[in-house]
Amino acid sequence: MVRPREPAGRGGLCFALAAAVFASLLPLPCESACREGCDLALASYYVSEDDVVSTIAPLFGIGYKDVLPYNSLTSPDFILTGSRLSIPFRCGCNDDGSLGHTFAYTTRSGDTYVNIARSRYRNLTTADALRRANSYPAVLIPIGVPINITVACFCGDEGISSDYGLFVMYPIRPGDTAETVAAAVGFSSSTLLQEYNPGINFTSGQGIMFVPTRDPQGRYRPLKARSSKRGALILFIYFS
Ligand SMILES: *[C@@H]1O[C@H](CO)[C@@H](O)[C@H](O)[C@H]1NC(C)=O
Ligand SMILES: *[C@@H]1O[C@H](CO)[C@@H](O)[C@H](O)[C@H]1NC(C)=O
Ligand SMILES: *[C@@H]1O[C@H](CO)[C@@H](O)[C@H](O)[C@H]1NC(C)=O
Repeated sequence: MVRPREPAGRGGLCFALAAAVFASLLPLPCESACREGCDLALASYYVSEDDVVSTIAPLFGIGYKDVLPYNSLTSPDFILTGSRLSIPFRCGCNDDGSLGHTFAYTTRSGDTYVNIARSRYRNLTTADALRRANSYPAVLIPIGVPINITVACFCGDEGISSDYGLFVMYPIRPGDTAETVAAAVGFSSSTLLQEYNPGINFTSGQGIMFVPTRDPQGRYRPLKARSSKRGALILFIYFS
């Protein structure tokens, strides 16, 4: 292997090292709310009559095959009305420092922010969030244009438990309680669900709950150590 020439000799190395150490001491811009997000979160999509995976998946910018590993389906053409489909997506940082993801949706005739949020996206977003994320006034949404669908997400909380790093975003439906949601997602503790969702009234029939869930291998994913990346970078520079 050819060793790359060090452009500025040892001085360059020392400068890089000092810069890296300095950077590691600075707080990241949005430390409190959003550091980097996580590569995987799931959206819980409530299945209505006539839904098929191949029409739901494109609402989230993916193909039906991407959805299959996260759901136990006998056939993608047949999903039970009233069941829920888990849709994988990347949970990133919004401009305001909160966690979220923006999907693109092409408007159709008759669309309003309310029906896009409630019917097309099954309450994974809200009409208010759509009004904030799009420049079109609510009464004048053109047909056939892309609009931003903002969905909130969550990657876990060290202060609650480091055993859980994969969450499903679960819009609460009328009749749900913390216990019915826990049972529906196969999660044993409704106490932990209350801890993860402090501001939510579980019996109000609305709101989005963050629920720890298993990956396609059937395991809970532990929370990733957030500081390991920067530590590795410094070591890399030091030893190179
Ligand atoms: C979405 O929320 C509205 C208002 O709370 C509710 O009436 C509707 O049934 C919900 N839709 C779904 C698919 O859960
Ligand atoms: C969607 O969001 C992007 C980035 O914030 C913005 O530039 C664009 O205008 C938004 N789209 C609409 C329809 O408002
Ligand atoms: C939760 O919502 C239900 C139904 O809307 C309401 O009756 C109840 O008072 C609410 N509880 C709290 C603590 O706000």
